[in-house]
Amino acid sequence: MTKKKHPQRPSRPLYDNPVSKWIDKRLPVFTFIRHSLDEYPTPKNLNWLWNGGSLAGITLLIMIISGITLGMHYNPDPADAFNSIERIMRDVNYGWLIRYIHVNGASFFFILVYLHMFRSMYYGSYKAPRELLWIVGVLILLLMMATAFMGYVLPWGQMSFWGAKVITNLFSAIPVFGDSIVQWLLGGPNVDAPTLHRFFVLHYLLPFLIVAFVAIHLICLHQFGSNNPSGVEVKKSEDQIPFHPYYTVKDLYGLTIYLLVFAGFVFFAPNFFMEAVNYNPANPLVTPPHIAPEWYFLPFYAILRSFPDKLGGVIGMFSAVSVLFFLPWLDRSKIKSAAYRPMFRPLFWVFILNCLILGWIGQKPPQGWYLIIGRLATLYYFAHFLIILPVVGWLERPLTVPSSISEYCKREHNRRKK
Ligand code: HEM
Repeated sequence: MTKKKHPQRPSRPLYDNPVSKWIDKRLPVFTFIRHSLDEYPTPKNLNWLWNGGSLAGITLLIMIISGITLGMHYNPDPADAFNSIERIMRDVNYGWLIRYIHVNGASFFFILVYLHMFRSMYYGSYKAPRELLWIVGVLILLLMMATAFMGYVLPWGQMSFWGAKVITNLFSAIPVFGDSIVQWLLGGPNVDAPTLHRFFVLHYLLPFLIVAFVAIHLICLHQFGSNNPSGVEVKKSEDQIPFHPYYTVKDLYGLTIYLLVFAGFVFFAPNFFMEAVNYNPANPLVTPPHIAPEWYFLPFYAILRSFPDKLGGVIGMFSAVSVLFFLPWLDRSKIKSAAYRPMFRPLFWVFILNCLILGWIGQKPPQGWYLIIGRLATLYYFAHFLIILPVVGWLERPLTVPSSISEYCKREHNRRKK
């Protein structure tokens, strides 16, 4: 095997331990780990936003472990689902802790992944040659949304039941097959026992599919390595440092801070992200006055309700996610980092503001000014991708991009000294 030498690390024997040697010859697992962590050369200028991916990976693991533990005590039967959650909270040893970790973990997972996506948008990480890495990311986002939606139904509270009803009912807008699709999704004419059973099974299964997609995501990442704040590709060996120990330490430091904030929510504000109505058992005869999804779906929910008809809303909502698949080709600029794109940079922040406005509108009733603002924000959301990005890429005169990452670091150093 040819061993890759890192410029800043003297080469040392691969394995001293005969057992490791024996295993690695038959199953090169240690070579893989060493290649991924130790020898993996990484741009030397990654900032804190590059901690997001590893934090999302750890959160996925936390979600799977806490979820499996909850699954051991949860009963997916409409007559007992709500009570089984109450039993977990009151009778199971540390059940309250496991549940609060799982529930808050879902919100933290979305916070991280949205930050991770916006970071990638700001620094143009979706551009060639990382288009497929981005596309796999969008698939992960879709799987996360499906998993979170089905998980929310499991406690069988009022919002679980009515949320499931409203969202599955949307498919009835599809011409000809709509009603059959809804029946097929629900396992019957209504949200009932077959629905709860299949949602539980799928909610258990999909996270493992997410793990598989994360593995593909990382294979794509390792093909060309990470992008970086300068958006300039690695050109010479001085541009890089080994992942370990430099970024393992940085990731561990970030993880410590992240876990402290996470623990703060779990212990001191465990219901911060929860909907109080969902502490009432599901009642098919009483519709809650105000049905809204979890916060991470609100911008898409606002888009859904901005259309005058149901079918338009469904197409609009799915297009809002699907348009992300085409982002690498919609952005015509060759320059990656927003730092050198004077027109794109302010428009990126307008786009973020617009997403926040959509999130705010998603929890308001779709009437009066809220409806008008929602419609304008929906229009802007699509205009950003379909009109603004292509046109800006064409009109913009970018600033001088550094010739290498090392030059970028020198420029940053001088800028901070001033
Ligand atoms: C379970 C969810 C996810 C996990 C665990 C994950 C993991 C990672 C990791 C570990 C990295 C390298 C470190 C970093 O750049 O932060 C990365 C990079 C990246 N991810 Fe993800 N990711 C997830 C979801 C997504 C999503 C939803 C998208 C976009 C739609 C995405 C797009 C990207 C891109 C473009 C990069 C390359 C960034 C760069 O090199 O600048 N990821 N991801």
